[in-house]
Amino acid sequence: MTDREIKIQFKEYSSLSGLSEAYQRLCHEAVKALKGSHSPYSKFRVGAALLLHSGKIIHGSNQENVAYPSGLCAERVALFNWGANHADDPIVAMAVTVHTDEFELLQPTASCGACLQVMAECEKMQDKPIEVILFCSNGAAWVINGVNSFLPFLFFEERLNN
Ligand code: THU
Repeated sequence: MTDREIKIQFKEYSSLSGLSEAYQRLCHEAVKALKGSHSPYSKFRVGAALLLHSGKIIHGSNQENVAYPSGLCAERVALFNWGANHADDPIVAMAVTVHTDEFELLQPTASCGACLQVMAECEKMQDKPIEVILFCSNGAAWVINGVNSFLPFLFFEERLNN
């Protein structure tokens, strides 16, 4: 038996002013995306903004439904929009933020596993990692590069062929 260890690196900021101007702007867009959230059931609004290689920015927000499983997370709304309409313009970064009136969020909220799996597919489609900026309204931010840092044991389709 061998004990193995995987280390994950990410950057932590206490204020968005530590981010590059482009990323600060992207965070601002993620806050704007919150407006589109339809979240009457959870009251947990999530906004996502994708920065594309061309400089274009596209938004996503969580969309809930009275039949709960029919809703979709903000990240997947944004990533599927990219896949459907912008797949020739690679994603450089995705900023994600959350707002709820129910309590104060002091730390960034990580994306769910299903969104990470979709992000993995997008990285595969464009053959480039996506930098993820998770942040909350007090300015706390984590910058995490690529889905491998979230899911080091990700399922790769190559495994099917070996
Ligand atoms: N949600 C997201 O939009 N992204 C995530 O990664 C986790 C959860 C949404 C889904 C639902 O509308 C609400 O947050 C509460 O789970």
